[in-house]
Amino acid sequence: MKLYLYVCVCCFLCACGGKASQSETKSETRAFQETYRPQVHFSPASGWMNDPNGMVYYKGEYHLFYQHYPNDTQWGPMHWGHAISTDLVHWEHQPIAIYPDELGYIFSGSAVVDKANTSGLGSTENPPLIAFFTYHDMKKEKAGEIDIESQGIAYSLDKGRTWTKYAQNPILKNPGIRDFRDPKVCWHAPSRQWVMSIASGQVIRFYGSKNCLDWEYLSAFGKGVGSHEGVWECPDLFPLKVNGSNEEKWVLIVNINPGGPAGGSATQYFVGDFDGKQFTSAQQETLWMDYGKDNYAGVTWSDAPDNRRILIGWMNNWQYAGKEPTPTWSGAATFPREMGLVQDGSLYLLTSTPVKEIDHLKGQNMQLAKTPVKSSYLLTDQFKFAASPLEIKLTFDQSNNTQMNFPAKYGIRLKNDKGEYILIGYDNMEKIFYVDRTNATAEIFSEHFSSLHGVPYIVNSPQVDWHLIIDANSIEFFAAGGRIVLTNLFYPSAPFDTIELFTQNGEIDLVSAEINELQSIY
Ligand code: FRU
Repeated sequence: MKLYLYVCVCCFLCACGGKASQSETKSETRAFQETYRPQVHFSPASGWMNDPNGMVYYKGEYHLFYQHYPNDTQWGPMHWGHAISTDLVHWEHQPIAIYPDELGYIFSGSAVVDKANTSGLGSTENPPLIAFFTYHDMKKEKAGEIDIESQGIAYSLDKGRTWTKYAQNPILKNPGIRDFRDPKVCWHAPSRQWVMSIASGQVIRFYGSKNCLDWEYLSAFGKGVGSHEGVWECPDLFPLKVNGSNEEKWVLIVNINPGGPAGGSATQYFVGDFDGKQFTSAQQETLWMDYGKDNYAGVTWSDAPDNRRILIGWMNNWQYAGKEPTPTWSGAATFPREMGLVQDGSLYLLTSTPVKEIDHLKGQNMQLAKTPVKSSYLLTDQFKFAASPLEIKLTFDQSNNTQMNFPAKYGIRLKNDKGEYILIGYDNMEKIFYVDRTNATAEIFSEHFSSLHGVPYIVNSPQVDWHLIIDANSIEFFAAGGRIVLTNLFYPSAPFDTIELFTQNGEIDLVSAEINELQSIY
């Protein structure tokens, strides 16, 4: 077990059970400078993190909880770690919010503001924040029992600072389904009820409640549709307006592990309708939110202001999580993304865009006017600031390229002088966006890390937009209005300090480029 003394030295000597005091936790934020430590992404001060949990906005604050094991950089007895932000990018670490107890580990879930105090756990003047989570009973699991997962709640009456477990937990017992977890709760105004989505084996089961405490089974969705190559986990159900119209659809997010398009963990989604009882969808295709290897368990904030639908995922993959070369912590969140919906022919597609609050991090800036790129163009030669963290926006134009000199491939490569790199490109022959991560780690810590993966996409407009966020060990790529997303980690032996645009056998017009230095959140 790798213990990180930095967390709370007293844990060895006292009986605090790993509870670092708030001041201890805060003083750690001065550090966060280790190799590979994300500088513009949320990561735990120390110990293990997986799924983001319980994201809720209340009184000007975004709460982010997360699956956390404070005593090791491996998965272990799950707690809910906690952080608060007023702008989605700067996070203040909080004491652990929810501890495991005799009913089990505290697995993933969600949180809501019970504004009308339907639960009676607060008052209308001071409505309770209610966190829904899964109790995972390890004793029962070891005994080979089926009913190992049930749903519990905890509530807060002090703006999420302290949490009290409900005395009559669990509020929803196991119905005889072994994988029965990750409750995501939303208020469904038309039917005036709370709706809970639960990953239940190979389907999502929906439950309804008037008071957050008593739940009644409504329906299930998922048989025979989408991907079933792994366990269904961490659902989310929410309405979204179709871009440029007044049409509203319901989106059902279903995380699945393994079986993702790049191998391992990934997030699929269904677009359809929800009538307060049943979710229905005409969608035939399996759709993925992110085609990279490192975005899992993403769900959205409850009650985000201005009707925004903001998602954050765990930037990792169960194929190798815990093996990565970060000895004092494991895991980070993706950059928060604003979700949208577009209609392309008969398909409704989710789009992801980095939240506009990225502007809070912007430092120096550089613009490039129209530049033809042939073979290699060193972007880093054009600016004086560091190659990470950065935001890069590129617009390529394909219309001036004749058949003759049209590049077979073009894209961006981050590299160092050790021969290591990560590359994102568009392949004009295969018509795919692709990532080459075959040479992006110093240490082969997992056979699953090296990867060449992509997503078919026909660029049929002359211009195509690329948007990238580059951090100490990650690259997030958004293209074609957020329809294409590829999130990937890297662990080179020296930082990728050179950024190159490249083409293979031809030339591409870079119409414009904007590069923004991003300031560390620490
Ligand atoms: C997804 C998941 C959830 C579960 C949690 C346990 O990554 O497996 O289904 O609640 O992690 O940590």
